[in-house]
Amino acid sequence: MPTQTPDRHTLVVFGATGDLAHRKVLPSLFDLHRHGSAKGRAMVLGVARAALDDQQFRDSLRTSLLAAGHDAAEVDEWLSNHVHFQSLGDSSPAAYAALKARIEALEAQHNLYQHRIFYLALPASAFFPTIESLGNAGLHVSKGWTRLVIEKPFGHDLPSAQSLNAQIHRFFDEQCVYRLDHYLGKETVQNLLAFRFGNALFEPLWNRDRVRQVEITVAEELGVEGRGSFYEKTGALRDIMQNHMMQLLCLVAMEPPAALDGNAVANEKVKVLQSMSVIKPDDVVFGQYAAGTLNGHSVAGYRQEPGVDPRSTTETYAAATVRINNWRWNGVPFSLRTGKRLARKSSSIVVTFHQPPAAVFNPYIVCGMACNRLEITLQPNEGFNLSFMTKIPGEGMRLATQEMRFRYADTFGKLPEAYQTLMLDVMRGDRTLFVRNDEVEESWRLFTPAISERLPVHHYPAGTWGPPAAERLAGDHTCGWTEP
Ligand code: BG6
Repeated sequence: MPTQTPDRHTLVVFGATGDLAHRKVLPSLFDLHRHGSAKGRAMVLGVARAALDDQQFRDSLRTSLLAAGHDAAEVDEWLSNHVHFQSLGDSSPAAYAALKARIEALEAQHNLYQHRIFYLALPASAFFPTIESLGNAGLHVSKGWTRLVIEKPFGHDLPSAQSLNAQIHRFFDEQCVYRLDHYLGKETVQNLLAFRFGNALFEPLWNRDRVRQVEITVAEELGVEGRGSFYEKTGALRDIMQNHMMQLLCLVAMEPPAALDGNAVANEKVKVLQSMSVIKPDDVVFGQYAAGTLNGHSVAGYRQEPGVDPRSTTETYAAATVRINNWRWNGVPFSLRTGKRLARKSSSIVVTFHQPPAAVFNPYIVCGMACNRLEITLQPNEGFNLSFMTKIPGEGMRLATQEMRFRYADTFGKLPEAYQTLMLDVMRGDRTLFVRNDEVEESWRLFTPAISERLPVHHYPAGTWGPPAAERLAGDHTCGWTEP
């Protein structure tokens, strides 16, 4: 994985006045500028329809950065020397010609070679026309390198993902495309690679002979947070399961890559997806939160949220059991679940190992206790717990489960923001933590039957762990889902 100082470049952020740019993308660029090898390497050009000039854009950004507690002098230095704005007005060819001229002017003024990043922090409906306009304006080619960063949702089904990929490839080579899934930038998610392939201890156990089930949970306390109209068209399966959770599954299940680079890792992830059978509607359960109590406060149901149809059948919870039909995993259930307004925010991967083959202790154990369990907590309280059986001291052979526990915060303190990690990788040209075109398409292929049917939506009170109907999808039917 390259760790070099990035080339000096122009970073064009489309959607620069939007929520994503202000909350995630631009603050992460500011953080990268403040410390580390990216300092001063990016000349940022915000682009949006708004009729703002450089100073007005800087002022709005200054307000967000100061509100987030950043130092005013550092913010002002970055804004005045490294941040600019170009209004795209009506997005016409003339507007794109003006954008091109502005980029070239900045490059000339700051003595930048034509290295360029185009970051589309835009609603999905704008991806297609923006790529078209960039291409028609000739902005997909330059004397230096050109990279395109594109956020999820990457299509809403297989045909739409294929057509977006085809549109991108009309102008950009796949090697220049960075499909960003922010889960891959989380330290704990990257650590799955280190944990699996940097330790000889676990790999021999990581297969159907030793593993009984794998559960992946992405649970949120948040509701739709003002994004009701977006969420109505999206739902939990498309918002989280098809992308973030399938990436987690691939990193847990894939074979060791030939090298730690973008293509080698993507090759292994694609093989996992290709080994899976399509997910049948019967293997999926949908839920939707009703009013309930969360952390002692009453919260509204999904149908009462602004922008949501009062008769909506959009799922805010999805659970699925999937199977990987290869030598390593055949027969091991992978149970996935995600939901909004669940009892607690928690993303985790729980690997449960088989019980010992001889049942000498059977009278002393209760459900599930005899299985060793590795729990990887992705957030919050990032870390690992490994459970094992011990004898309770004293008379007789009584057993209890104990845990070995590691927490990142105890050793490393605060972890970096995912966007910061990913943006630095784009600047350095490292695609290891990005999603390749065929990964996206394979993942949509798997979910096609489930999204083509109108599945029943089971209601669950906010503040619970989802609808009881999903219990049957837990890997271990007798014990249910492992509570994160
Ligand atoms: C986003 C989804 O991709 O991930 C949101 O669109 C969700 O609905 C968010 O809240 C969760 O991210 P994190 O990092 O808070 O787990």
